[in-house]
Amino acid sequence: MQSLTIEETPRLNKKILLVDDYPPTRQLIRDALNQTGYTDVDEAENGREALDKFGDNQFDLVISDVMMPGMGGMELLNQLREISPDTSVIMITAYPAEELTVSAMKKGAVDFLKKPFNIDDLLYKIDIYLNEKTILHNSQDTFNVSEIQIKDKTKELSVQGYIYDSFENIEGDNDYVFNKIVDLSLKVVEGEECSLLLFDEEEKTFHPKVVRSLNPERYESETIPALKQIFNEVVERKEALVINSTEHFEIAPSLICAPMMIRGNIFGILCIRKKMHRELFTSKDLHYIVSLAKRASLNIENRILYESIYNNVLDTFRSLIASIQLRDHYTEEHSFRVTQTAVKIAEAMSCSQQEIESLKIAGLLHDVGKIAIPDNVLLKPDRLTYEEYGIIKTHPDVGEQILKPLLLFERERSIILCHHERWDGKGYPSGLTGSEIPFLARILSVADSFDAMTNNRPYRSAMDVDRALGELKKNRNTQFDGQVVDAFLKIL
Ligand SMILES: [Fe+2]
Repeated sequence: MQSLTIEETPRLNKKILLVDDYPPTRQLIRDALNQTGYTDVDEAENGREALDKFGDNQFDLVISDVMMPGMGGMELLNQLREISPDTSVIMITAYPAEELTVSAMKKGAVDFLKKPFNIDDLLYKIDIYLNEKTILHNSQDTFNVSEIQIKDKTKELSVQGYIYDSFENIEGDNDYVFNKIVDLSLKVVEGEECSLLLFDEEEKTFHPKVVRSLNPERYESETIPALKQIFNEVVERKEALVINSTEHFEIAPSLICAPMMIRGNIFGILCIRKKMHRELFTSKDLHYIVSLAKRASLNIENRILYESIYNNVLDTFRSLIASIQLRDHYTEEHSFRVTQTAVKIAEAMSCSQQEIESLKIAGLLHDVGKIAIPDNVLLKPDRLTYEEYGIIKTHPDVGEQILKPLLLFERERSIILCHHERWDGKGYPSGLTGSEIPFLARILSVADSFDAMTNNRPYRSAMDVDRALGELKKNRNTQFDGQVVDAFLKIL
């Protein structure tokens, strides 16, 4: 059995030069590189200064702007091909004309990025090209740019781009993402069987999650010692392998196994196989699968991170609401009931699942701003004075401000901010009218008012349901959105 691996040299060993006349751009890229583990980063403000830096150093990668005073990126590229043909160059430009792109590729630029660029996009490409350079280095010594190589290069870029784009803004649950990883792997390297297995670190076991094979049971790893041995090797080395074998029926003729990792910890194995009588996988195939596994892992990491932040934040707010409840028994139960009612109205009005999720959060948190209202106002048993009412009216703003730094709850914030706006513009805090008020806030407003009317408050006793409904009808298209009131009346 023969194996082939991509040996990733540590990021620490890679030297990168940033060439841009605008210091904040260099700083942005440098910070991102440092955070990703590339610490050997130098800067130059134009092509001339970059060439001077090459006098004393060699760089693995240059990231260069095109338009710069003194010497621009294209001239730099020209000269680099003479003095350092092995250095990969990524060009960044605000105006990527096609002729410029082709000309730069002919001169050996490995990629182009359009300004303003996405920093994750750049980091992904940097990883790809620095690893690719390691492979190229092993297979050919000189960088001789022929038309065929440019064609190969263009094809490769489009495959890499395709992999990258496939995971950009991917929607759906984790199962959908796992299936997508498997389908894409088969397509990119023309494999015939593919499985994605989750790795249990404690038990050291592999659990098939998605299997595309005519004999799925074959991938129940426990039953195939040869596969288990390969998986263990991938886990141990934290590297992808190509295995070519004529001995093992389950592996022959060619198999790629790649680790899926989050922050250096393996959580899964991606395993793709060609069937008998097909050609073997190449190092290029391995490279594609490695970048696919990395890109997919990054996507999964972001999802997990987002979910855990989201749930943590929600838990924090639940305890915040509970702490208001300690002062004012009304708030927590009220928030719970308002949420239930608002969700029912939203369902009756055919809101999307995402909108309903937003209402659940906004309903729970809509009065969170009351945390800033002093006891003598919040708990006052008598009617409020004008000034005291003014203090109460700050709670939508305060609630919105509490959520603002989190950046997660944009839609929920707008609902919280606007839940006391009125259809006729006489509400607070902004006096918005009609459809200026976010639709979900109009729903919450009806649910909130109905609950407030039908429950005891320190300063007045509860109204019966019929009277409260009469109030809602009376205030159709003055205080409330008439259509929301109608939807509410229908679901009762
Ligand atoms: Fe409120």
